[in-house]
Amino acid sequence: MAEVVVSEAISGPAMDSLKAEFDVLSIPSLWQDEDALRSAMKDAKAIIVRNQTQVSAALIESSSQLQVVARAGAGLDNVDTAAASRRGVVVTYAPRENSLAVAELTMGFLLNLARDIPSAHIDTRAGNWNRTHFVGTELSGKILGLVGFGRIGQLVAKRAVAFGMSIVAYDKFLPNDVPLVDQLGVKMLEFEEVLKLSDFVSCHVPLVAETHHLFSHHQFSQMKDSACFLNTSRGEVVDERALYEALSIGGLRGAAVDVREIEPPEPGGLADLTNVIVTPHIGAFSHEAQMRVVDAVCHDVRSVLRGEQPRNPFVSK
Ligand code: MLT
Repeated sequence: MAEVVVSEAISGPAMDSLKAEFDVLSIPSLWQDEDALRSAMKDAKAIIVRNQTQVSAALIESSSQLQVVARAGAGLDNVDTAAASRRGVVVTYAPRENSLAVAELTMGFLLNLARDIPSAHIDTRAGNWNRTHFVGTELSGKILGLVGFGRIGQLVAKRAVAFGMSIVAYDKFLPNDVPLVDQLGVKMLEFEEVLKLSDFVSCHVPLVAETHHLFSHHQFSQMKDSACFLNTSRGEVVDERALYEALSIGGLRGAAVDVREIEPPEPGGLADLTNVIVTPHIGAFSHEAQMRVVDAVCHDVRSVLRGEQPRNPFVSK
C-alpha cells in the first residue's frame, strides 16, 4: 500500500525526488473514482491533490495513518479543513506560488477583450482580411474594478496601472495598511460602487459560503452595458446563467472566464457566445508556476512525514 497518494496530474522533478524517498501511488484520474480513491487511501500517510479531488471528512477518515493533505494550489475549497484539523491532519498548500501566472492570464484576458483578438484571429484564419471589423478599445484611461484585492488582485493592479488604467477595488477583508493602495492610487470602494464605475470588472476572491454566486442578476445589472467581466478565481462565485443572460441581452459587452460552476462544463452555454472567451481553468498553468507549486507541496509532504515543520501549513483564522 502507498504511503503517498497523488490523485490528480501532478509531476515534475520535486515529485520524482519524493517518489525516490517514499512509496507514491500517482494516478491522474483517481479523483474521478471515489471507491478506488478510498481504497488507495487505506494506509496512506499523505495525499496530494489539485482542485478536483474532494477531500471530504469521509476521505480523510478512510486512512487511519493520514498525516498530511497537500493542495497543489491556492484554493482550499475542495478540502474539508475542519475535518482535517479534528483528526490532527496537517493541511498544506501553495498560497503564493501560482499568483503571478493567474495575474498574467488576467492581463491576457484584458487585452483580448479590449481588442477582440480571438474573433479577429478566427476570422483571419478563415481567409478574411476584415481590418475595420475589429476596432477595439484601449485599456489606457479605463477603470479596472478588482473584486478581491489580495495577492492576485494586487499583482493585476500593478500591471494594469502600467497600461494606464485606474483601479477601484473592493475587499471586505483587506487590512487598512496595504501600502500598494496609496502607491498605485487605488480607490477602495463598496462592492456596488466598483460594479457601477468600472469598464472591466475582474474577480479575485476565494470560494467560501459568502462568495458563492457573489455575481448574479443584480450585480450584472449594476455594471455598465459597455463593461467586460473577467473571472479567474472560482466558477461558483458566478451565477453562470445570470452571466449568460447579461451577455446575451447586451447588459455586458463581453466576458472572459477561466473557471466554471461545473468543471468540465457541459458543451454550449457561455462557450457558444461570440463575446465570451473561455479557457479550461489554466490560470495556474505556467511552467514556472507549476514548478513552484509542485516544489512547495512536495517539500511540505516530506517535512511532515519526517516529523518536521511544513513551510505552508493552512491555519484557520
Ligand atoms: C488554485 O487554486 O491555485 C488554482 O485554481 C489552481 C489549481 O487548482 O490547480
